[in-house]
Amino acid sequence: MLRRTHTCGELRESHVGQTVRLNGWVNGYRGHGTGLVFVDLRDRYGLTQVVFDGEDLPKDVLETADHLRNEDVVAIEGKVRIRVGGENPKLSTGKVEIVVSKLEVLNKTANPPILPDDGPSGGKMANEELRLTHRYIDLRRPRAQQILGVRHKVYQTTRRYFDENGFLEVETPILYKSTPEGAREFLVPNRHVPGSWYALPQSPQLFKQILMVAGCDRYMQICRCFRDEDPRADRQAEFTQIDLEMSFVRRDHVMEMMEGFVRRLWKEIAGVDVPPMQRMTYREAMERFGIDRPDTRYGLEIKDISDIAAKTDVGFFKDVLAKGQDRPKFSAHRGVVKAIRVPGGAEKLTRKMTDGYNEFARSFGAGGVAVVKVNAQGAFETGIAKFLESVKADLFAALGLQPGDTVLFVSDLYSVATKALGELRQRVARDIGVVPKPGAEGGPWNFLWVIDFPMFERDKESGRWVAMHHPFTSPNDDQLEAFVKADVNDEDTIAQIVSAGYDIVLNGQEIAGGSVRIHDQKVQSKVFQLLGLSPESAKEKFSFLLEALQFGAPPHAGIAFGLDRLIMNFVGTDNIRDVIAFPKTQTGQDLMTKAPSRVTDEQLKELYVKSTANL
Ligand code: AMO
Repeated sequence: MLRRTHTCGELRESHVGQTVRLNGWVNGYRGHGTGLVFVDLRDRYGLTQVVFDGEDLPKDVLETADHLRNEDVVAIEGKVRIRVGGENPKLSTGKVEIVVSKLEVLNKTANPPILPDDGPSGGKMANEELRLTHRYIDLRRPRAQQILGVRHKVYQTTRRYFDENGFLEVETPILYKSTPEGAREFLVPNRHVPGSWYALPQSPQLFKQILMVAGCDRYMQICRCFRDEDPRADRQAEFTQIDLEMSFVRRDHVMEMMEGFVRRLWKEIAGVDVPPMQRMTYREAMERFGIDRPDTRYGLEIKDISDIAAKTDVGFFKDVLAKGQDRPKFSAHRGVVKAIRVPGGAEKLTRKMTDGYNEFARSFGAGGVAVVKVNAQGAFETGIAKFLESVKADLFAALGLQPGDTVLFVSDLYSVATKALGELRQRVARDIGVVPKPGAEGGPWNFLWVIDFPMFERDKESGRWVAMHHPFTSPNDDQLEAFVKADVNDEDTIAQIVSAGYDIVLNGQEIAGGSVRIHDQKVQSKVFQLLGLSPESAKEKFSFLLEALQFGAPPHAGIAFGLDRLIMNFVGTDNIRDVIAFPKTQTGQDLMTKAPSRVTDEQLKELYVKSTANL
């Protein structure tokens, strides 16, 4: 084989006159049958133009060149010269070409079902289903190779940073135990103990805590996590975390270490200096943005105007404001009226859009959206306008209204109105075009710590308390005593306990989440009790943790970054499948290997498993 001396991205003017060998794939060709054949040769590093000139070549070599097709694998030898046909400024090798003297076809391709084109500047990108089915061709795309390269760099920078800071990389098991951590689990039967199952880990949460009890002090792992949830644009059932834990620390120590990491990562990968990260409490995030991962790149903030609404005769305001007024201010069960001012909305929002908002708000459980315009003379128009005349000055002051604005009102229970407006705010932002370009495309990088989350929230379906982060998260230091004393049946007190959890939000996406952990066995048992786990089932599921906490558990805290989401930000895509070498579709299929697949009855029998599927 003509073994390569250079890669296809390497040759420059300085190589002119040298005899070189390249190996790669045929990316394109011109001039078949003319006696002068041009071939673009591609590998991971780039493209180089090679020229087969019939005048200087043996006949059989030219003939072979005449039959080269896209994706054939070839080796060539030849001399580097300045491009005769003029420079191609789009290529790093665009100043030179190779005049071929030897050609070896290493592997002829069958007719390829897709070509590795990146679209829109190159050829047309094939549809995603075909690309995932033939991922071995698809990954040859320069953009796909670039993304794998960024991912690789992120692994290296991560390992370097945490190594420099004394973290120990430890692998934790993939065959694990079923524990209620939130999402549905993937189960794996064990043939040695009939009827027993492993679960794949949703995260290494408890192992990393055990590692702290075991004296590892600082742990890190780039680990695979498995959650049997429906995949979405930024969610896969199988994804990767940068997982961390530290001993003898409180919240601020972890936050400081992680800010250092974020700064290093963004500097090395994106060349960006990240300023000190803002902190926002969960309550402030919910009040201003209606969501715990606010996108702070644009305004459209939510305002609570319940006090003003109470002075009007709008029936649906009054009805809502009669509910739960004896509950604490931010109780989910208290009626509120909230509004968003849309600057210039009278022109920017079409009737079709605002009609759509009604439906949209309803899908989050709200009754609808009341839309009121401020006309050029500064008077209210449409819908409930006439009922607002008496409070016009108050509304103008509270919302900062200007002629030409539109106001969107939602009146409902606190939790419903907040959620509906939080979602609506994002939709309106897209509709009126105020969402900036992603950071990777030159837009801002808005990092935010969100802190002081409630410990518990009511699960919508079961009505039971669930941990907002996970059940191993500690109450905030100043809340510990209140939590220990709290009566588990005192709804309002429990709802107000604040946890020592923290998330990093980037441009409205949660890229990391973590917390200070409970290291006191009694506190952990109380959390389990509140979550409805009987002492017996807590023992059955978590005896190892409860035991470990009794034998010298140091105070500890940690966090996990969603690695795939980091890469999405660095390369500027909103499709998580673009940043994973072998991703799964929305229905959890690996189109290339055709996993998941059926197994034989013998296999099932051996595992003591019987399928009830009607196959
Ligand atoms: P959490 O569940 O918040 O915390 O996950 C941490 C981060 O992982 C990313 N992430 C995902 N990425 C892709 N697909 C998914 N399905 C998916 N789910 C989560 C997010 C998220 O911020 N053990 C805790 C961490 C800790 O407390 O230390 C945990 O797993 O970016």
